[in-house]
Amino acid sequence: MSAFQAPTGTRDVLAPESARFAAVIAHFADTVGRANYGLVVSPMFEDEAVFRRGAGEQTDLVTKEMYVFSDRGGRTLALRPEGTASIVRAFVQHHPLVPFKAWYCTPAFRYERPQAGRYRQHHQLGVEVLGVADADVDVEVIALYARFLAKVGLERVELKVNSMGDRECMPAYKATLAAYLGDHARELCDEHATSHANNPLRVLDCKKPECRAVAAGAPRLSESLCEPCASHFARVLEGLDALGLAWVRDELLVRGFDYYTRTTFEFASHALESAQNAIGGGGRYDGLVELLGGPATPGVGFGAGIERILLAAEAEGISRLDGAALDVFVVDITGGGAARDLTDELRRAGISADRAFDRRSLKSQFKQADRSGARLACIIGPDEEATNTVTVRGLRRPAGGEDVAATSSDEGQERIDRDRVVAAIAGRLA
Ligand code: HAM
Repeated sequence: MSAFQAPTGTRDVLAPESARFAAVIAHFADTVGRANYGLVVSPMFEDEAVFRRGAGEQTDLVTKEMYVFSDRGGRTLALRPEGTASIVRAFVQHHPLVPFKAWYCTPAFRYERPQAGRYRQHHQLGVEVLGVADADVDVEVIALYARFLAKVGLERVELKVNSMGDRECMPAYKATLAAYLGDHARELCDEHATSHANNPLRVLDCKKPECRAVAAGAPRLSESLCEPCASHFARVLEGLDALGLAWVRDELLVRGFDYYTRTTFEFASHALESAQNAIGGGGRYDGLVELLGGPATPGVGFGAGIERILLAAEAEGISRLDGAALDVFVVDITGGGAARDLTDELRRAGISADRAFDRRSLKSQFKQADRSGARLACIIGPDEEATNTVTVRGLRRPAGGEDVAATSSDEGQERIDRDRVVAAIAGRLA
């Protein structure tokens, strides 16, 4: 074992997995870019109060999971545990024009119990829209996420939706729920038996069977929604139907942060274990901008975990995220100068190309060419050098990725004049 390992709950993403990681980001950037969302890049750490106030003092995120530290100037900072509070802080600081439609791609840090699909550093793709109260924008962000998942190729997904009410109707519901939980306190899990009064909604979110049983009989939020919240939610559902997006109502979907109002939603992958099957979620947070010191401004958005999307893609056997094969590997046994020049010329012509360095033997260069997965090899030996030509031939992919030395096939081998070779390869690849 090497002296240093990636910290518990974190992982290194190397090629070829990283090609899938990059493909997911590219699909996302394309989807949201076409809907006029602009990328926001903001610091990985903030004043700890941004996240504490944002998510809510009593949330697990704040009480158990946040990475909080003091810097050398004595400031109390936190590593970003989620994207929304950062975007809202930036919005309040820079007061851009509304609607402010932002997207981001960011690592997020949570001190969680690591397991498959649950990490201490995960990566989120997300969007936030600030300054729009219209229920149609809730539909827009949900539809964007659904369209993105379709591009990735995921099919076994389910959209769950709910409404959390607002500051008019939520407090009364919380009181009703608190009274019900008080009557059933002894049946709750150990944690919630004592803490349910602090934040009764968390019990609805608890995955323990004891709490789930109590939650199943709890008063329903849908029965407490005020008229404006009920009609907002009806408009959201109407929009989802109009766009052909299948949904299920999940009245227990309250999500882990206190900032949510009205619409909440989550996409679950049925290809994953149920405990970690949320591949994205979000909702409306109409009070958050004010909470972080800005003017009353509605907001809505979602965050989606890249690692979970990749796990779901793997479980569904999706191959379209795999990186494109390398086009050409240049094998040069005349000293390397020819490989240097030809590789550069190929790349400038938009053909992907690689080569060996350090004046390796022919055998070693072919081994590397095979391992590269390239479709074609360009070979420059003393004969080619003398006649100012290049030999081009197809490469066989090593079966199952195993190392096979010199598996070049003679199929389609041709000797081409050096000054015609780039055009000839472009034609052959097309
Ligand atoms: P969240 O549900 O906490 O929401 O996280 C969003 C997504 O990040 C989850 O659905 C999941 O895919 C992924 N995720 C969360 N924690 C982990 C973890 N420990 N390991 C791997 N993946 C994880 C938010 O963060 C909100 N900011 C979403 C939002 C945006 N709401 C409104 N706007």
